[in-house]
Amino acid sequence: MTLRSIVYENGKLEILDQLLLPNVTKYVRIGGVEEGWRAINSMQVRGAPAIAIVGCLSLAVELQKEVFNDKKIIRQEVEGKLNYLVSARPTAVNMKLAAQVLINFINELDENDTVGAEEMKRGFISAIEAMLEKDIVDNRAIGEAGAQAILAGTPEDNAVRILTHCNTGSLATAGYGTALGIVRTLHAHKRLEHVYCTETRPYNQGARLTAYELVHERIPSTLVCDSMVAALMRSRSVSAVVVGADRVAANGDTANKIGTYQIAVVARHHNVPFYVAAPFTSIDTSIPSGEYIVIEERPDHEMTHIGEHRIAAPGIGCWNPAFDVTPAPLITAIITERGVYKPNELQKYV
Ligand code: MRU
Repeated sequence: MTLRSIVYENGKLEILDQLLLPNVTKYVRIGGVEEGWRAINSMQVRGAPAIAIVGCLSLAVELQKEVFNDKKIIRQEVEGKLNYLVSARPTAVNMKLAAQVLINFINELDENDTVGAEEMKRGFISAIEAMLEKDIVDNRAIGEAGAQAILAGTPEDNAVRILTHCNTGSLATAGYGTALGIVRTLHAHKRLEHVYCTETRPYNQGARLTAYELVHERIPSTLVCDSMVAALMRSRSVSAVVVGADRVAANGDTANKIGTYQIAVVARHHNVPFYVAAPFTSIDTSIPSGEYIVIEERPDHEMTHIGEHRIAAPGIGCWNPAFDVTPAPLITAIITERGVYKPNELQKYV
């Protein structure tokens, strides 16, 4: 059975609490925007596409409970709450782009005199609901495009060995996944020999979540610590690295989970192709380069402790950026639902 991190049925929203995985499988009800914001900020739900979908669905849930007579009130409420949701985590751009699209849509509905207040609300909720479905379709397209790109030039009966970082699977999206979706597609086509997933310190999305998904799907896989990547590439052959993205700038510079940049540097040294898998909802052409990406810094506690257990000496200072930026020249290609692009070509296709 496929894992579902977001369950939205009959206007009710539940998320799989990713802070408790892999030990406890518990769904948590999200009753509105405030609870949505908290679930995103505390990382009960994480991963750029999942953040946007849960944020927007939390608004849909809230709107469903309200009755509106005045279109202006809906418009103001929607705009204020979407902007609030964007503030929950600053680096992943998906929530911000979704908010822009939805604010434009609500303005159009507001200006259309043939649409009444309740119809406006329903139309708006339907637009949010469509995001869930679209994300899965896009991820499957990324999976196929990525598998083809990685296999190009590989003899037909050879299988590939992939390294991935952080978690980009069903848990980070509406389903299937981006970079992990490519791994899934390769496996489904019997062209995956093995996948290595990094632990992904400090929050261990690799050890806790990707490993959980890989075991669940029975995909041949091995966990490595982040510090083992260079040794892995030297001692065992890795055909390609595939990672996700939280924000891709117009020139192809890509923000992703901390540690991605150093993997890209090591991959270049070992001549291993380095792919970014990203839906267009993660591509931000409003910024020319990665320099403009705000990097979220997380609390010290996430570094000094594992769960409630302290592992660092008390009193030590910490620096805990959640993401880094991989410069475009280190990226072989960006795999999207519309095709595979060289980082410097991306802008032409937006
Ligand atoms: O801090 P997180 O766990 O939200 O970071 C997630 C990542 O960096 C993912 O690689 C990215 O969001 C893409 S998920 C398809």
